[in-house]
Amino acid sequence: MNAHDAATESQLDRVLVLELVRVTEAAAVAAADWIGRGDEKAADAAAVEAMRRAFDKLYMDGTVVIGEGERDEAPMLYIGEKVGGAPGKGPRIDIALDPLEGTTITAKAGPNALAVLAAAEEGCLLNAPDTYMDKLAIGPGYPEGIISLEKSATENVTALAEAKGVAPNLINVCVLDRPRHSDIIAELRSLGCGVTLIGDGDVAGVIATTDPDTTIDMYMGQGGAPEGVLAAAALRCVGGQFNGRLVFRNEDEKARARKWGIEDLDRIYLLEDLAKGDCIFAATGVTSGSLLDGVKMLPGGVMTTDSVVMRASSGTVRWIRGEHRIG
Ligand code: FBP
Repeated sequence: MNAHDAATESQLDRVLVLELVRVTEAAAVAAADWIGRGDEKAADAAAVEAMRRAFDKLYMDGTVVIGEGERDEAPMLYIGEKVGGAPGKGPRIDIALDPLEGTTITAKAGPNALAVLAAAEEGCLLNAPDTYMDKLAIGPGYPEGIISLEKSATENVTALAEAKGVAPNLINVCVLDRPRHSDIIAELRSLGCGVTLIGDGDVAGVIATTDPDTTIDMYMGQGGAPEGVLAAAALRCVGGQFNGRLVFRNEDEKARARKWGIEDLDRIYLLEDLAKGDCIFAATGVTSGSLLDGVKMLPGGVMTTDSVVMRASSGTVRWIRGEHRIG
């Protein structure tokens, strides 16, 4: 254990690491009732409520720093809301959460919907405003700094291809399928790259770069800033590189960022800027995808869940299959 671990052990208690999976499991199970039902709002509301209740069973003094929106926008799990069953007594933990990452995916029964959260010591997660973020990510094992949001798509792919020892056309880049990405997609296709287009769910898209089985080498494009912090927490645990830069569509979004203490609006954030110190990432699959299996109902009233929990200080990754007997 290094000095930083020793200092943080009392706050991010090791027991809490496993307990946090119960929280994402509860949200995923609740959301699963809504898979393929065409109702994004109901799916999200079910996940939010279940996650909120599950937090209360944990011995911690938690604060939501990334959540369902600001207090006046969200009835539960809003930014600043206290969660956990030991306010003023338990470890003081900041939480970034997305009870249902992939509301549309769930409504349409598509792949890669997740219940997800990150936890860290107070002040260690970026209080990202609900804006877009330019994201660029690769998995572990490459020289630090080979990718950058200051470079073009071509330069980034070429640098990665060189480091991987392959031709640029053998690089597979994951991009959210949105009209705003048409230039990037055209540039990648002109290099002959594989472009894996996803309909939603860029937390899973970014994490896919860390798993060779997905064949995705790089993630590129704009998605939600809160999702950027969640994905960065996962990469802090398993390795990889990430660049994120907030994207503002109007003055109101800039004002929101300033309200959360962000002064340099053009800053490029690296992993440690988004999730520093020790941190935990936990996710449970709602629908099956590249990271996790979805919630499944088996004969005999048994429901299965598939979860992962990771910790940055140890680099430990635990895959947890839960069997829940429904009474
Ligand atoms: P929701 O679960 O809030 O629907 O988010 C899904 C998602 O695809 C994220 O993974 C991604 O960061 C964001 O939406 C992209 O936003 P947009 O749909 O506006 O392009």
